[in-house]
Amino acid sequence: MSYKRILLKLSGEALMGNKQFGIDNDRIAIYAKEIKEVVETGVQVAIVIGGGNIFRGIQAVEGGMERTQGDYMGMLATVINSMALQAALEAINVETRLQTAIEMKEIAEPFIKRKAVRHLEKGRVVIFGAGTGNPFFTTDTAASLRAVEIEADVILKGTRVDGIYTADPEKDATATKYATVTFEEVYQKGLSVMDMTAFTLCNENKLPIIVFDMNTPGNLKKVIAKDSKIGTLVEF
Ligand code: GTP
Repeated sequence: MSYKRILLKLSGEALMGNKQFGIDNDRIAIYAKEIKEVVETGVQVAIVIGGGNIFRGIQAVEGGMERTQGDYMGMLATVINSMALQAALEAINVETRLQTAIEMKEIAEPFIKRKAVRHLEKGRVVIFGAGTGNPFFTTDTAASLRAVEIEADVILKGTRVDGIYTADPEKDATATKYATVTFEEVYQKGLSVMDMTAFTLCNENKLPIIVFDMNTPGNLKKVIAKDSKIGTLVEF
């Protein structure tokens, strides 16, 4: 049986495609198509996107900016990405609603959990923008928080690597991929999945995580069909 309701976390950097900055229209169109295929199977889809392709709070802090200022700018970057994805989905006739954690009524609905759930029940893709609305939290934490709030069955973290490895596969050639790993093992071995705030939120609320490569076409659909060859499942 496939999942009924998922939260998909997309990285902002991934939206750049082959560009150095901003949004690659081809990349976002591919994502939209992949998401549409999943929606058409009847799975309820909520999405959180990062903002690193537009603004990186950490770099701004390194340059001397106050952390909270940098984080709020990052939140606005996620809204830009969310709007771009919304437009790409609507261009191929996928119904969407965008809700933001910081009110900006002229461009999006405010985040209201009950409304988000109704939209999902009606088959609309719900995109959550502006992170958690608070500084000091990542978009991974926003994704975990929203996933728990809307009672998603799983959080799917789309990344550049195809799962969780024993070591960093880009640095260590002997690293091997886990098909499944427990929350306990991730803590014990110090594996990198999400930041600890996000990860602990999932752990405490019994929300499984799948880390997978979103840039291989067809992967999203396979992950949702519980194809165990794709990605790594973090379970209990
Ligand atoms: P239901 O009718 O309850 O199924 O949902 P709906 O989203 O279609 O109804 P609603 O009348 O709430 O929204 C109609 C449109 O207005 C949708 O595209 C919403 O995203 C949008 N919308 C609703 N509230 C707001 C808001 O506060 N700000 C903005 N910018 N758009 C909103």
